[in-house]
Formats: sequence, C-alpha cells, structure tokens
Amino acid sequence: MSDFIWLNGEIIPFSEARIGVEDRGFQFADGVYEVLRLYRGKPFTLAEHLDRLTRSAEGIGMSVPLPAAELGAQIGKLVSKSGLRDGMVYLQLTRGCSPRNHVIPAEIKPTLLFYARPLPPPPVPGEGEGVKLCTVPDERWKRCWIKSIALLPNILAKSQAVGGGYDEAVFIDHGTATECSASNLFAVVGDKLVTHPIGSKVLPGITRAVLLLCAAGLGIEVDERPIREEEAARAGELFITSTTREISWVASWNDRYIGQGRCGPITTALHRALQSRINEE
Ligand code: PDD
Repeated sequence: MSDFIWLNGEIIPFSEARIGVEDRGFQFADGVYEVLRLYRGKPFTLAEHLDRLTRSAEGIGMSVPLPAAELGAQIGKLVSKSGLRDGMVYLQLTRGCSPRNHVIPAEIKPTLLFYARPLPPPPVPGEGEGVKLCTVPDERWKRCWIKSIALLPNILAKSQAVGGGYDEAVFIDHGTATECSASNLFAVVGDKLVTHPIGSKVLPGITRAVLLLCAAGLGIEVDERPIREEEAARAGELFITSTTREISWVASWNDRYIGQGRCGPITTALHRALQSRINEE
C-alpha cells in the first residue's frame, strides 16, 4: 500500500500535503466529513455517502465542489493509486482558508481532501467479543444529522468510555438513548427492532439505513422511536452500527450483561444479511 492523498484536485504523497493555518476547518471546525468503507478495492454505498455529504454541506451553507459522479471517480483513482483493497476512505470538506473571522466570508475556496487507510477485517457475525457500553449525557447541538467535523462532545465521550474500560459511549438525552459517540444504536425489544428516528438527534447512519433494509428483507418489524435508557438497557439484544465496524453486538451496558453476555440470534441474522448485501454490491 502507498500513502497518497487527494487534496484539492491533485493526488500527492500524504507526507507532502499542506493545509493553511487559517483553514476554517482547523480554526473553527467549519466543515463536514465522510467515512466510506472499502471492500476489495471498491467503496461500499458510495452514492449514499456522497448524498449525505451533499446534505451535510448544504446544512452548513456549503456545496460540494465536484459533482457526485466526478467525486466518485476521483475517489476510485485515489483508491487504485493507494493499492488498498480493504479499509476506509476518510473525506473532509472544509470552508477553506481565509483570515480568521467568525463571519463566513462571501468568497472562499473550499478545502477538499480524502485518503485511504486499512482497517482490520470485518467480524464474523455472532463471533468475537461483545462491546461494553457506558452512559454519557448527550450535550451535543441539535443538528446531529450534519456529519460535522466539530466532534468534541463525541471524542470526549469516547475517551471517557475507553478510559473507564468500556468500548463505546451511549448518549442520553433527557432519559432517551439517542446514539453512540461514533455509531448508531439498535435494541431488540420483544421481536421488534427499535432505533432512534433520524432527525436532529442522531446521524442518519448509512449502515443504519442498509440495516433497516436487511431487517425488512428478513421480515423483522422495525420501530423507529426514541427509547428510554432503562428500556434499552433491559433489551434482549443490543447492537451498534457504523461504516467502520459494520455491526458490533453489545455484551454489557454500565457493567450489566445484555442477553447473558452472548450475541443474540437477531443480531447475528442481521449481520449475515448485511454481509450478503456487501458481497452482492
Ligand atoms: N462515524 N453516529 C455517529 C455519531 C457517527 O459518528 C457514526 C459514524 C455513525 C454511523 O454512521 P455510518 O453508518 O454512516 O458510518 C452514527 C464514523 C464511522 C466516524 O466518525 O469515524
């Protein structure tokens, strides 16, 4: 694998990339991002990620500087030049460079970059260690549907979780479990799959959306509704989803076992269905 980056239209060695000190992404976290998964050298759900990028950019009054088809082609070029088969692409779009001023300048050229990184192989459904969750207060803003690079609450929550011996933090907003610091949360309640509806409080995860299709394909009923922390923590099965982890089954929440600390049958079936979709695409 070779380390290249696509930066404002050029593919260059990663070590040669330079971003201005007054880039508004650096000074104000004024930007949005995407994380795409690569399987066998091909980005999975590329169109969905680029569509969300467009919506995130519009959400902060920006537009993506390349049409989606062209951007997709450029991502393909970078991936083949990097030689990476399985991993991820990190893409970041910031407002660009301009003398520091809170007011968004009328004329500014955005900074767009992306590069590929390897990831460990995806887990075998139902196997591996379950994830340990802990609770943190949801102190984020009310536009969580924007995939903003302003991730301080998320990184503080995740670091608090990992520092305490957990794997992921669940955000609790007025008693409701919204999502995790870098993943969406699903609970199996009775024979239904429950997850927070998209909107102001959660990121519209691409894996979440694919998983809802998998659930429909398996005839599993889905309830998109807010779920109270107590109800979620008593669920028969819990799992979290993201582009980088696919599905991780949850073994415990605040040190209390979920489903006797084993991966449940619905989680395993959904993960198998997700992997079939990945193989089909
Ligand atoms: N994060 N919710 C949050 C807050 C996230 O940061 C993520 C993903 C998700 C899952 O979204 P998706 O299925 O589209 O990856 C939900 C990425 C992976 C990251 O920040 O690295």
